[in-house]
Amino acid sequence: MNWVDAGPDELVEGEYLTADLSGGEALVYKLNGEYLAVANVCSHDGGEIAGGLVADGQIECPRHGARFCLRTGAALCAPAYEGIQVYPVRVGEGRIWVGDGY
Ligand code: FES
Repeated sequence: MNWVDAGPDELVEGEYLTADLSGGEALVYKLNGEYLAVANVCSHDGGEIAGGLVADGQIECPRHGARFCLRTGAALCAPAYEGIQVYPVRVGEGRIWVGDGY
């Protein structure tokens, strides 16, 4: 697996970083001190979920309001019924790294 640099290990909860993976862009969030990465593509209609409201460990797609679990990628409400990809994250050398190769 390749580890892609998403940025410095200084992410503030509620903000996000991006990582360019081979399969597309990933979004990295910080939740209760833990980093979580999900694909920046909604399973409903392919819209970008970047910038969507994040609350209670969930992200809401800004287009039609589907919500996804940031930890598992599971779809939590209509109009999405399939989950989104999640990626492993590690911290090292003062940077946040997202695992590519899934
Ligand atoms: S594209 Fe995300 S809810 Fe429709």
